[in-house]
Amino acid sequence: MFSYRHAFHAGNHADVLKHSILIQLLQYLRRKETPFWYLDTHAGAGTYDLSGAWANKTGEFAGGIERLWDAPDLPPMLAEYIAVVKGMNPEGPLTRYPGSPWLAFDLLGPRDKLRLFEMHPTEAGVLAENLRRRGRTDARKFMLYATDGFVGLKALLPPPPRRGVILIDPSYEDKNDYRRALIAVREGLERFSTGCYAVWYPQVQRREAQLLAEKLERLQVKSWLHATLTVAAPSASGVGLHGSGMFIINPPYTLRDQLARTLPYLAKTLGIDGAGTYALRHAG
Ligand SMILES: C[S@@+](CC[C@H](N)C(=O)[O-])C[C@H]1O[C@@H](n2cnc3c(N)ncnc32)[C@H](O)[C@@H]1O
Repeated sequence: MFSYRHAFHAGNHADVLKHSILIQLLQYLRRKETPFWYLDTHAGAGTYDLSGAWANKTGEFAGGIERLWDAPDLPPMLAEYIAVVKGMNPEGPLTRYPGSPWLAFDLLGPRDKLRLFEMHPTEAGVLAENLRRRGRTDARKFMLYATDGFVGLKALLPPPPRRGVILIDPSYEDKNDYRRALIAVREGLERFSTGCYAVWYPQVQRREAQLLAEKLERLQVKSWLHATLTVAAPSASGVGLHGSGMFIINPPYTLRDQLARTLPYLAKTLGIDGAGTYALRHAG
């Protein structure tokens, strides 16, 4: 079993990119009355305590969401993201941070459904307990599977309403995750070609990360958007995360403009010592 715990990284620059996009995807699908499913192959623990020892050990959120918390000039997409997280912190200071399943739970409508996978037994237990404490126990609305999300995803596709957002957000602790993420997308598209798929990947000095991004862009799909946010130059030691990417298949038509306004702001605000850069590519 791997040791990755998202609590060390919650609210960092990568979460800012991923979660601000995820909110846009979910809100877009909610515009129509027809229900949809949200599938999360790597759900994590659901909520994170930013005043806790783990988050403060790395202090990563200080270089991420904290820099946006009181900013007066946020682009609309980030203003929406911050408003959602502020809703979780009614006392004012930033102490609680929502993971992807939590954001989805709060943004989905009464007829929408969640299907969550979390393979780490401790994280799955914490997620189940977090959801239970919030009264999220309705088995018709959500299912949590403490199993491998790469394997479980395809059995659930296509979702019965034929509308859905699929987040594929591995920790990439295992280098096979790069390959498996691509396979999951390919197999998913065979069953559900109109689904909206979002794949997060790290910018690290690994050939596999670069290859995943290139192979995703070569998929035969109607449309995709590819956003990257780089906050630092790659380290001389060759280790560490210097940015991340989100690859979105069948994105809402509104997202490209939103990202074009958001990414320069994020690069400027979250870039370390002026080293922030971004890219936004698209097809279709
Ligand atoms: C990056 S974290 C997820 C963060 C979460 N999606 C969020 O945005 O809040 C990755 C999670 O995947 C879990 N995991 C690792 N391999 C998995 C697999 N094959 N299937 C399901 N979960 C897995 C890890 O235990 C970890 O909690």
